[in-house]
Amino acid sequence: MSNSESGSGVGSRAFDVDSIRADFPILNRKINGQQLVYLDNAATTQKPAQVIKSLTDYYEQTNANVHRGVHTLSIEATDGYELARTKVAKFINAPRREEVIWTRNTSESLNLVAATWAEANLSEGDNIVITMMEHHSNIVPWQQLAFKKGAEVRYLQHDDEGVIDIDGAGGVIDSRTKIVAATHMSNVLGTINPIAKLAELAHDVGALILVDAAQSVPHMPVDVQALDADFLCFSAHKMLGPTGIGVLWGRYDLLEAMPPYMFGGDMILEVTYEDANWNDLPYKFEAGTPNIADAFATGAAVDYLSALGMENVWKHEQELTAYAMEQVLSLDNVKVLGPQDPALRGGVISFIHDTIHPHDLGTALDQQGIAIRTGHHCAMPLVRSYGVVAAARASFYIYNTKSEVDAFVNGISETEGYFSR
Ligand SMILES: Cc1ncc(COP(=O)(O)O)c(C=O)c1O
Repeated sequence: MSNSESGSGVGSRAFDVDSIRADFPILNRKINGQQLVYLDNAATTQKPAQVIKSLTDYYEQTNANVHRGVHTLSIEATDGYELARTKVAKFINAPRREEVIWTRNTSESLNLVAATWAEANLSEGDNIVITMMEHHSNIVPWQQLAFKKGAEVRYLQHDDEGVIDIDGAGGVIDSRTKIVAATHMSNVLGTINPIAKLAELAHDVGALILVDAAQSVPHMPVDVQALDADFLCFSAHKMLGPTGIGVLWGRYDLLEAMPPYMFGGDMILEVTYEDANWNDLPYKFEAGTPNIADAFATGAAVDYLSALGMENVWKHEQELTAYAMEQVLSLDNVKVLGPQDPALRGGVISFIHDTIHPHDLGTALDQQGIAIRTGHHCAMPLVRSYGVVAAARASFYIYNTKSEVDAFVNGISETEGYFSR
């Protein structure tokens, strides 16, 4: 089933940016007297009225605890919470809905795999292979695990444009590799990594592949079966949904064999004074009262994206990125990180200005109502590898327009004028 068909009866909708923008109340805001131009979508996206309404509807009409009541509200809350899981499963083409585990965010999903599957399966001398362009959330849990186990963290190299050296990968992944954990799309370089190829290399040596899909699931069609992934992680807040909820998807047989991550209510089958045993999937990994309201809202976000169709979302961002790349690359004094060919990247443009510090640029653009990100983007080793400690980043989503790209590029030029005075 394709993502565009996965809306559980939500129907489809034409991809019309004006009508999309009308759904986002925050886009009417003025910042420093200027119309907001929000270009910090890789950090978190804005929320449409439909998602916000699902939260207020939930609290006004349904609020109750799940999986433990016989009363109507509890049954409705449970049904809605589980329906959202089904929507997410269809959205990523998961073979079974029980493979979708609710977590707090991508970071927690990654930590869960490191603390359970990897803890149980890695021994001294084994290695974990990641890329040089990972977010801290997909570096630090592996480093900590490696310290504990006497294992090694190895890195796949990339070229100057941030394209993975896939031919050299065979020299890094070997018979002691237990897991390859790679970002699907870099939150700094915009590079889209060859996950299916990495999965093949991992599986050839009996290792697993984990996909950090924080920057891909919100923007392009993602199919866990086509990628041949073993685990895949993402956050709702980067795809129109609320903060505080994320997803770990894992292959059923793997999740089934893994020990629990946290202990408590809902994740048990039976408890005695002496011992306990574990509930079925997915509940084994969902200890305590879950984030019910935000699961409802994640379902609404998935409905929203599904109605637009992920192919259309991706097409819009590709067009906008190509338009923005052409303009930014034409600026003197600006170096864009990552692939220069827009076809090889997603809608994230990180850049370094020869003379203006990213923080100064970000502050000057904010004066013009334009929100971009500046700093190390939670990828300190990568940003430092370019000889800087910070970079500026503009990132796009469904509601961004070419005139906003123009405002952003003009804003850089105006800032140059200000600093050269
Ligand atoms: C590639 C990537 N991985 C992981 C994360 C962490 O996501 P979260 O902060 O929602 O846990 C991010 C967030 O920016 C990201 O871009």
